[in-house]
Amino acid sequence: MEVKNIFLIFSALLLLTKTCNGRFVVSVIEYEFGNIETATVKCGGTIISNRNVLTTAACVNVTSPDLSIGVQYLAFNGTATVPIRHRATVRIHPDFASNREYNVAVLEIEGSFGDGFESLSLGALNDSQSCFLYGWGGGNGPADPRRESVTVNGPDSCPGDNTQAYCSRFGFFEALARCPGLLPGSPLVCGDERVVNGMVLNGGCSAAQPYLYYHSIEDFSSWILWETAGAEMTTKVSGFLLFAALLTCLKNIL
Ligand SMILES: *[C@@H]1O[C@H](CO)[C@@H](O)[C@H](O)[C@H]1NC(C)=O
Ligand SMILES: *[C@@H]1O[C@H](CO)[C@@H](O)[C@H](O)[C@H]1NC(C)=O
Ligand SMILES: *[C@@H]1O[C@H](CO)[C@@H](O)[C@H](O)[C@H]1NC(C)=O
Repeated sequence: MEVKNIFLIFSALLLLTKTCNGRFVVSVIEYEFGNIETATVKCGGTIISNRNVLTTAACVNVTSPDLSIGVQYLAFNGTATVPIRHRATVRIHPDFASNREYNVAVLEIEGSFGDGFESLSLGALNDSQSCFLYGWGGGNGPADPRRESVTVNGPDSCPGDNTQAYCSRFGFFEALARCPGLLPGSPLVCGDERVVNGMVLNGGCSAAQPYLYYHSIEDFSSWILWETAGAEMTTKVSGFLLFAALLTCLKNIL
């Protein structure tokens, strides 16, 4: 085969993986009981099955009985971009404590994520690893998506008293540019784009406190899998749908 052809195939494959990966980041919202239209965005979350979202416990540890938690994403309805909202049931890790250890929660939405969404499987963070941080709050405002490269350090190299926390340290100008608008619960992906390796714990990094802290998802994966066990079958089904979507993409490109 000619080099040119190999290059063409490679480009088509690259395009395919860029255009056909489903969305896996959603917003976690809080709203007044019974009135989901009052929603405000609190955090980011990662889709881990067609009904489950992973986020931080601190984000959804609602203190008032008048407040409820849900999940939101934006969709194009034919004429405008509108928020689609799902009510959600919250499960917080039983060992979650005020020192922010076990800061993990699983949401189960009413309804399910349809076509165009992707469920990520659970992975680990490693020391001195290079990862991508996904979420919103990029340079152009709260709705601007971001995908930023960060270097992750293990708990032994991170200041603070949370022995489970991994971290990144930013330089002064880097913190000014990157910290604003970053939400807790935003996912880290460190290699395989179908795996979520970590999750941001604090949205509040700044030039004065230039650390971002993360949980390594694998540290809590047995609890997460236990809580989402009922969704396992549907995850397999959505894997099949994803494959079907990939074939459709292939037909459009080739
Ligand atoms: C789409 O959303 C806009 C803004 O909310 C609304 O005015 C319009 O009627 C919607 N269109 C359809 C087809 O639902
Ligand atoms: C979670 O909410 C409960 C109920 O308000 C509160 O007592 C507890 O301190 C909160 N936990 C953390 C770690 O913030
Ligand atoms: C990260 O560490 C886990 C064990 O904690 C290991 O299984 C995995 O292969 C490591 N990943 C990388 C990219 O080094």
